[in-house]
Amino acid sequence: MDLLRVAGGARLSGDVTVVGAKNSALKLMAAALLAPGRTVLTNVPKITDIAIMAEVVRRLGCEVTLTSEDDISRATVEIDVPEVPRHEADYDLVRQLRASICVLGPLLARCGSVRVAHPGGDAIGSRGLDMHVAGLRRMGAEITSEHGFVIATAEKLHGATIWLDFPSVGATENLLMAAVLADGVTEIDNAAREPEIVDICDMLTAMGANIFGAGTSQIVVDGVDALRPVAHRTVGDRIVAGTWAFAAAMTRGDVHVHGVPAAHLEIALDKLVTSGASVAASEDGFRVRIDRRPSAVDIVTLPYPGFPTDLLPMAVGLAAVSEGNSLITENIFDGRFMFIQELTRLAAEIRTDGHHAVVRGRERLSGAPVTATDIRAGAGLVVAGLCADGTTDVGHVHHIDRGYPDFAADLVSLGADVRRIQAPDEPVFTM
Ligand code: EPU
Repeated sequence: MDLLRVAGGARLSGDVTVVGAKNSALKLMAAALLAPGRTVLTNVPKITDIAIMAEVVRRLGCEVTLTSEDDISRATVEIDVPEVPRHEADYDLVRQLRASICVLGPLLARCGSVRVAHPGGDAIGSRGLDMHVAGLRRMGAEITSEHGFVIATAEKLHGATIWLDFPSVGATENLLMAAVLADGVTEIDNAAREPEIVDICDMLTAMGANIFGAGTSQIVVDGVDALRPVAHRTVGDRIVAGTWAFAAAMTRGDVHVHGVPAAHLEIALDKLVTSGASVAASEDGFRVRIDRRPSAVDIVTLPYPGFPTDLLPMAVGLAAVSEGNSLITENIFDGRFMFIQELTRLAAEIRTDGHHAVVRGRERLSGAPVTATDIRAGAGLVVAGLCADGTTDVGHVHHIDRGYPDFAADLVSLGADVRRIQAPDEPVFTM
């Protein structure tokens, strides 16, 4: 296993280009299943999760090719979908990629039955499926859970009015992908509004679907009999862009982020302005600058357009080096704070109580070995290491590889001293 060795004391400065969003590209690959023929997705990030999703789709009977685009961090994915795809996704892949549950809706709509391994929980929280299941049942599906599989059948799905208890990203996407081929009109109320939802709606519309209200809390879908494959460019990754924005502020740097509009990160960037940074929108992104220690700001995560839960580790990291005390509240995932014990190894002063964290900012953190517990925590620990005296080794880098193409290379191009090295073997103790 590799680790990232981070030298403290960097001030990030320069330009960085962000490629397509993981959390969009994965769902666009699932959406391709809705139409037989060749779908072409561009601006897809070259990350482990995309490689796993490619294998999920291959095992459903599709031919998948991934080709590097000019930039080494992005790929074009071509998916050739057969007239009749297979409709079973096994545990060996689903356990590695919870997002593979997003094949449930499209396969049910296309094949009338589907078996997807139950994804279980993961390191950031319990992550249920109840809203996916309740919505599909409303549309006429019969769904059971047997021997570790979610099994859904429906000769023909029909339109329905569905209220989500919470604007779940995954449930909104699964229901959308089922509704586009259902008989009649489906209304999804309290729908998620993320740019990735708008992106998938744009692709489905180009495929021939009738969708109204994408990006609002009420999405209406008028089902059609068949869809056609298209070429589609993936929306830029606002979480990677937000990571660079916070990294610029934490290191008192000056970073111009390209590939994601400032409008996709409004609240997050506004928090940086409150902390003392100057943020300017540009033609294809935004620039974040600060030349003093940031001031403490309180941050609350909420569904889009609220502050994204995926930037929670960056929010806590910023608070840890800011002047003053911050209250950080996490409302989406019950396990998000797990990484805080790693951050306290860097001498961050943090107390948690339920879903609140009180952070007392320090002038500098103190380098130490730490372990990434998930994608976003990993990125947050690396950036925290840049604000520490001495060296920070961040272990379990494979988590970061799941969501950030070339993270270390981008950091180096912005002036950081970060190296990827092979972790020493852990000692094995036997009795
Ligand atoms: N939830 C339920 N029941 C459901 C669905 C969701 O209780 O049927 C709960 C979850 O347990 C969670 C909350 O609702 O507490 C939010 O879940 P949501 O469905 O919105 O999230 P998701 O679709 O599982 C996606 C991203 C996450 C991101 C969240 C929130 C993908 C592959 N994942 O997850 O991204 O944090 O939306 O924005 O799109 C990441 O990229 O590192 C990541 C975790």
